[in-house]
Amino acid sequence: MQVLGIETSCDETGVAIYHSTQGLISHHLYSQVDLHAEYGGVVPELASRDHIRKLVPLIKQILHERELPNSDIDGVAYTAGPGLMGALLVGAATARSLAWAWQIPAIAVHHMEGHLLAPMLEANSPEFPFVALLISGGHTLLVSVEAFGRYRLLGESLDDAAGEAFDKTAKMLGLGYPGGPKLAELAELGRPIYKFPRPMTDRPGLDFSFSGLKTFALNTYNESTKTVQDKADIAEAFQRAVAETLSIKCRRALRQTGISSLVVAGGVSANRRIRSCLSEMAQQESCDIFFPRPEFCTDNGAMIAYAGCQRLLKGEHEGLEIVVRPRWPISQLL
Ligand code: KG4
Ligand code: ZN
Repeated sequence: MQVLGIETSCDETGVAIYHSTQGLISHHLYSQVDLHAEYGGVVPELASRDHIRKLVPLIKQILHERELPNSDIDGVAYTAGPGLMGALLVGAATARSLAWAWQIPAIAVHHMEGHLLAPMLEANSPEFPFVALLISGGHTLLVSVEAFGRYRLLGESLDDAAGEAFDKTAKMLGLGYPGGPKLAELAELGRPIYKFPRPMTDRPGLDFSFSGLKTFALNTYNESTKTVQDKADIAEAFQRAVAETLSIKCRRALRQTGISSLVVAGGVSANRRIRSCLSEMAQQESCDIFFPRPEFCTDNGAMIAYAGCQRLLKGEHEGLEIVVRPRWPISQLL
């Protein structure tokens, strides 16, 4: 089975073709970063309009490059949520229209399920069961994954998601958008002189809270001399605090569940410091750890094509109506 995947939930237009036996055939990504940079964050209406401009040309390009006739596509997968309403509607309407025109099934994919399964696109992929830490701009989730489609929520962020905290802290330090990678870059120049808190690690449970760290960073910045080196030192302390907090919670989740395999995915999992901190913890716990390649940590069409293909193989598909779910808890996914 060969599936076209479409991702338009936020500020990246992603398309991909995944083959159930040959694996990933091709993928393309168009990032809207330059469009939103002057506003310091994603402007939802501009995002929708840009997806409209870019999506169909990208689909044409991927089919043309691979010399694939439409008749070789057996299904169309699209992100139906969670995400920005307008942006989701562009992908959903395009996917449903193509599926209708080509007389093939369409399948709605949960964006976080896409992230969760992204490591499956790698040669060294995890086997079930595993614990998944999903760290993106909108969500921080710890999930026990017993099988494909069997997800048990272990913990989540009670306020800012990890990526959101990176972005807001970066903005406060005047680093602009997209904040996460910029803060990570600056943190490389930082000295380990500040010690930030490790929120919610001194009590039991697997939930997270990152908004206090952002305030801690702001207060530290206001008390500093506000030089570039001060900013770098604060970025380093913030990043170290996030990395160690995630590591403490993952260690706890692995011990609690007795599972010895950890998957880390979502945009923030591209962060080198976080990857090394979690890898070190996994080694201490004698657990295996899996990350997607950096380009599949952030939003992409490949993970949606993969997740959609698995659901289509199970015989699932959507009705004719176009439904998107800007809010869609992963715990409601079966
Ligand atoms: O998964 P993703 O591409 O989109 C959502 O589903 O939200 O994640 C985007 C988030 C943003 O908050 C971005 O700043 C963060 O991932 N991010 C990073 C890094 N690369 C992306 N955060 C820290 N370090 C990075 N290297
Ligand atoms: Zn995402």
